[in-house]
Amino acid sequence: MKYVIGVDLGTSAVKVLLVDQKGAVVAQASESYPLQQPQPGYSEQNPEDWVIGTTTAIKKLLASQALVASDIEGISYSGQMHGLVLLDQNQQVLRPAILWNDTRTTKQSEEIMDKMGARFVEITRNRPLEGFTLPKILWVQENEPEIFAQVASFVLPKDYVRYRMTGKINMELSDAAGTVMLDVAKKEWSQEICDAFAIPSSICPPLIEATTNVGTISAEFAVESGLDRKTQVFGGGADNACGAIGAGILKPDQAMCSIGTSGVILAYEPDTSVDYHGQVHFFNHAIPDRFYSMGVTLAAGYSLSWFKKTFAPDTSFDDFVGSAAQSTIGAHGLLFTPYIVGERTPYADAKIRGSFIGIDGKQERADFIRAVLEGIVFSFKDILNIYEANGKEFKELVSIGGGAKSPLWLQIQADIFNKDIVRLESEQGPGMGAAMIAAVGLGWFENFRDCASQFIKVKTVYHPIAANVARYREYYQVYHQVYTQTQPLTKQLLDLETK
Ligand code: XUL
Repeated sequence: MKYVIGVDLGTSAVKVLLVDQKGAVVAQASESYPLQQPQPGYSEQNPEDWVIGTTTAIKKLLASQALVASDIEGISYSGQMHGLVLLDQNQQVLRPAILWNDTRTTKQSEEIMDKMGARFVEITRNRPLEGFTLPKILWVQENEPEIFAQVASFVLPKDYVRYRMTGKINMELSDAAGTVMLDVAKKEWSQEICDAFAIPSSICPPLIEATTNVGTISAEFAVESGLDRKTQVFGGGADNACGAIGAGILKPDQAMCSIGTSGVILAYEPDTSVDYHGQVHFFNHAIPDRFYSMGVTLAAGYSLSWFKKTFAPDTSFDDFVGSAAQSTIGAHGLLFTPYIVGERTPYADAKIRGSFIGIDGKQERADFIRAVLEGIVFSFKDILNIYEANGKEFKELVSIGGGAKSPLWLQIQADIFNKDIVRLESEQGPGMGAAMIAAVGLGWFENFRDCASQFIKVKTVYHPIAANVARYREYYQVYHQVYTQTQPLTKQLLDLETK
């Protein structure tokens, strides 16, 4: 049997999947790494931790199976998006990577809009939000000029790991779009944007497609990891693009609902004709010449893991989530907004913070857990409303990530969205998408549609229950007001914290 490896470089951990030619996940291994948050709004990681984590996970994967490394024909990647890795002329990392959920760049984001306005959105198809890469580059330019002066190139997280495995520096298109320095329709770096912000275009690496074969594993990495030198390496994609591929979102009437550290509602876009005016993100896809749009909840799974770490550290994750069944729709009058690190869609607001509304002496921990599960899904409903206002109707949503592991949470999604929710045999969307990129890149399949029909299998479909839909509609009406009503209060609190 022949295999591919999908490397899913996430924010809390790297997962590697060994997938056979039939699409079965034969083995998986993961390694976690720390996140540094030295100040409110800051979020950084050490790129070396990604390399060590990926190498260790690959070694564990290989050790768990009786196979010869040369049976692994290809490898590809899914990467946490937007993270800025700065390299000097000897390809040495100049400072910790500034991640997608780092929101220190409000000033720089505003400056970009002030300087370029609608023209910026026209080129990049996105508004310059804190999480994207360009504002991070401008922050370093302004605050760490001695580091900026040494920058020879910049890459994104999975592009850095691929460089360390092959020795070749490239940036892959679906991720490059998330730098907001790319002319999305033309698939090239925007000289106009580089010129406007005094960024030497020489620091922008050569662009490749997700399925581009960049070569084979370097001799050095083969020794470190146990991989075979002949294994072919393919570009890979942004985690959300890979998640969509791994979830089989290949038609405009399907959407993905993904709960990782962040949460995403994503739609497949066949071309650039639709214009959301930056209300949702719009990026090049990992499927060559296709696109996708999405809205992002910054702290989806992160809200749940924060709550668990803080209030239930000794409970198993399954028991913790399962206990929400002891509560009921509306969590006995408790609402949660997941804005614990600020928000992106529909409120591009780095300063908003989360709240529990309606705390009552009769509530128990299960109600709080239920409120967190529901609040995350309500925040997705806010994103779906943008799509509906733009005339998009989805037949069903495919759920992946943490939200696809719990039958209770899947039913909550069906009831709040009033849509069918599809659970797949494997909820490993991004890692599976990365494996599919390698499979298509190797020529195992002619295209992603053929690969999806072999690799992706539906497990269960959750249908909305009319009585629950009606109840949730009432709670959502209240939830939807919480942002506006709490925004001035949480901003004052944050200002006090950062004074
Ligand atoms: C998307 C985004 C997040 C990260 C998570 O714009 O910032 O979903 O990709 O890894």
